Amino acid sequence: MSSEAVPSRAPIRPLPDLLISQIAAGEVIERPASVVKELVENALDAGAGRIDVRLEAGGIKRIVVADDGGGIEREQLPLALARHATSKIASAADLESVGTLGFRGEALASIAAVATVSMTSRTAVATSAFRIDADSGTVEPAAAARGTRIEVADLFFKTPARRKFLRAEATELAHCITQVQRIAAAHPTVEFNVWHETRVALRLAAGQAQARVLALMPENFGAAQRRVDAQAPGIDITGWVGLPTAARSRADAQYFYVNGRYVRDKVLAHAVRAAYADVLHGTSQPAYCLYLSIDPGRVDVNVHPTKIEVRLRDSSAVHQFVLHAVQAALAESARATSGESAAPVTRLADLAAAPRASVPGTGARGTQQGLGIAQQVAPYLAMLAEARPPAVPEGAADAAPLGYAIAQLAGVYVLARNDAGLVIVDMHAAHERIVYEKLKRQLDARTIPQQRLLIPQVFGADALDVASAEEHAETLAAIGLDLAPAGPAQLALRAVPALLADGAGETGPQLARDVLRDLREYGGSRTLTEHRNELLATLACHGAVRANRRLAIDEMNALLREMEATERADQCNHGRPTWVQLTLADLDRLFLRGR
Ligand SMILES: Nc1ncnc2c1ncn2[C@@H]1O[C@H](COP(=O)(O)OP(=O)(O)OP(=O)(O)O)[C@@H](O)[C@H]1O
Ligand SMILES: [Mg+2]
Repeated sequence: MSSEAVPSRAPIRPLPDLLISQIAAGEVIERPASVVKELVENALDAGAGRIDVRLEAGGIKRIVVADDGGGIEREQLPLALARHATSKIASAADLESVGTLGFRGEALASIAAVATVSMTSRTAVATSAFRIDADSGTVEPAAAARGTRIEVADLFFKTPARRKFLRAEATELAHCITQVQRIAAAHPTVEFNVWHETRVALRLAAGQAQARVLALMPENFGAAQRRVDAQAPGIDITGWVGLPTAARSRADAQYFYVNGRYVRDKVLAHAVRAAYADVLHGTSQPAYCLYLSIDPGRVDVNVHPTKIEVRLRDSSAVHQFVLHAVQAALAESARATSGESAAPVTRLADLAAAPRASVPGTGARGTQQGLGIAQQVAPYLAMLAEARPPAVPEGAADAAPLGYAIAQLAGVYVLARNDAGLVIVDMHAAHERIVYEKLKRQLDARTIPQQRLLIPQVFGADALDVASAEEHAETLAAIGLDLAPAGPAQLALRAVPALLADGAGETGPQLARDVLRDLREYGGSRTLTEHRNELLATLACHGAVRANRRLAIDEMNALLREMEATERADQCNHGRPTWVQLTLADLDRLFLRGR
């Protein structure tokens, strides 16, 4: 080593200005959509009521953003393009409480460093508009109405290395539109128009917040959402959350804003996710659009070059606040779904209230929709007792809302008859819900009864799983698992929650891996407080009877009785319904039998 020549070092020199800007631009301007974001945000900061975006070749060839905001004075035009020049903050104290979208005084300079830029602007009091060319710095009179119009051509032609990373025009266009949609969802009173070449790509009229959100969210969101609205001192949250029926396979309909700024924040996303823990698990992604307003002093927006991340000063309090607000919204009576076209609803309470009648307004089969969190079984039983006329003999079918098992179908469904007709139960989904609620009660009572395995399950594990098992030993014990390293690449499972003991021999290792994956994802010492429901759902999924297990009639009836006694039995942990009712009227309709 020591014999190798020491490489000779070039002298230290200051970088040329343009190169500094190009390097800085690398952080902020990644693609045409980044330019669109910066220009649209500037227009909003200038108080625009209408913003027009024109794109050519997906924005790679040309991006023009025009607004009707306050404009820039002639003398200030060169400063607008200069690096570290801004009208939005003046001191470190201002940085503590930023109220505008921009504040770094960097965006326009960065864009001008990697593209050809010109800007035309006119204030309300000016006698004409003025146009500045960024490359030459020349300012000349121009004809334009009040507002600002920025033209950005040939993005990255000055930095070919960047240009290589651009995708197909259609992809870049899609990113540009997404960017405008994200911003528009938080500014409903501003009109937005986007053109690509000569075609209208997006048109959003100024209006109400709800109309704007519905225009941007997936189509099925409107009929399956709840309003969120909660306040606490110094913080409030509003917006809409989708019911499980509006869940998606991708996280592509999740909008979260902090003080009007679209952000991606782990803590906030977690809080929302946790609120869905009872009704959505696994890979299903909730749809939501939420606006958090918080005292600007309690959030640091200066942590990421594109400002997409923020730092919350009191993140666990905010987490709790968001979690409870969303939970409360989801728990609201699921009956009040907006929109006439919503699927008909059948649930325990309906059967109790009108055991012989079909569900009002149903033209087809009843299926459960929504969350049914308000379904408490005790009040229901009380109601049933009151509703029953004294002459009806005890023990008849009406005592069991979900009826009595008659058969098992395809190893998946239990068929039962009740007073209203036929009940079809997804036995895995139903059992999963029952196990989940039991685990929850056990954990609330501070003990999940454990059962030691006759033969400990020792299985191969990767280093990450072994490390997680060590790190989270306490949490694992609390949820009834005795899982510990048995070597550098082995784990031993010695005990499981008693409720899951059946079949734990085969499913144990997979259960252990799934739980460890959850623990890694949620992290932190407060996992059990903040992610209790997700963890229990993972356990319940493994504990539930698998498809293709043959059940005796007695077992099926036991399942039905447990479902009746279990809160929220009508929706499994993954948001699927656990049972449906086919009424006699539904059956008559199927057979075209008039009544
Ligand atoms: N559309 C516009 N209308 C009026 N003034 C504008 C407009 N765009 C930019 N400006 C002015 O030019 C300045 C520089 O804009 P630039 O986007 O570079 O920085 P910024 O918005 O202050 O901060 P950031 O870099 O965080 O975006 C702004 O502070 C603002 O005064
Ligand atoms: Mg800006």
